[in-house]
Amino acid sequence: MGKVTARQLLKMKRAGEKITMVTAYDYPGARLADEAGVETVLVGDSLGMVVLGYETTLEVTMEQMVHHTKAVARGCKNALVIADLPFLSYQITPEEALRNAGRLVRAGAGAVKLEGGREVTAAVKKITEAGIPVMGHLGFTPQSIHKFGGFFVQGKTSTDAVNLLEDALALQEAGAFSLVLELTPWELAAAITRELAIPTIGIGSGPECDGQVQVFHDLFGLCGDFQPRHAKQYADVGGIIREGLQRYVGEVKKGVFPGEEQSRRMAPEELALFREALGKRGK
Ligand code: KIV
Repeated sequence: MGKVTARQLLKMKRAGEKITMVTAYDYPGARLADEAGVETVLVGDSLGMVVLGYETTLEVTMEQMVHHTKAVARGCKNALVIADLPFLSYQITPEEALRNAGRLVRAGAGAVKLEGGREVTAAVKKITEAGIPVMGHLGFTPQSIHKFGGFFVQGKTSTDAVNLLEDALALQEAGAFSLVLELTPWELAAAITRELAIPTIGIGSGPECDGQVQVFHDLFGLCGDFQPRHAKQYADVGGIIREGLQRYVGEVKKGVFPGEEQSRRMAPEELALFREALGKRGK
């Protein structure tokens, strides 16, 4: 498989082939996703919550996104790397949005993602016109957490649903190559997917999207006890790591680790000389 491109995702939608996307924030996570055949790896600003321990994504900076995008890009041979534009890096002026998108591309991203509907189409247009593919993000958009008042499903009323559909069409019109639909009702996500020529990638939006995205740490039990309803845990890696760490602590306390195998000894003649030197120092 060669490097996945934005155009290829469009072809996959046309062919009815589901698209997979997973977040990654570092080199080993990116390598694992890439080697597993995931087509798109998202350096999400969920970085703030699952890696940096913030309450929301709002604290994530451009510097942090650039730093983590570089690591992820080094781990992806085939997958398309999409990097999130963080809070206030694209909302102020389209020029600033383009400058920041350019920084992520220079860090190794093949595309960028930003949140919002009609209010961000000028930024989408500016960035795409400069040759950088842009992914939109509608429904529950975490950078607007204070507006929503919590992690709630969006587009539940017919008015809100029509509004979201209009936003989706506006993003497509502005040049977006794909859209994430987060926490929207199944029926709305299905309708948007049918209406759009560009692929939709769902998270908590039902199975009829053209693809699915999940947060890496949710898939593998790496976020403590909290498991969002839209996430499915495929392996309890967190449990395995916890158990391993407990064994490590126990072995160090008991003096069992490190043993002969993890240690190196001096050559006998050097050891003899060393002991002699120690003896002289003792005098
Ligand atoms: O930041 C992120 O991880 C995201 C996904 C949830 C789509 O935007």
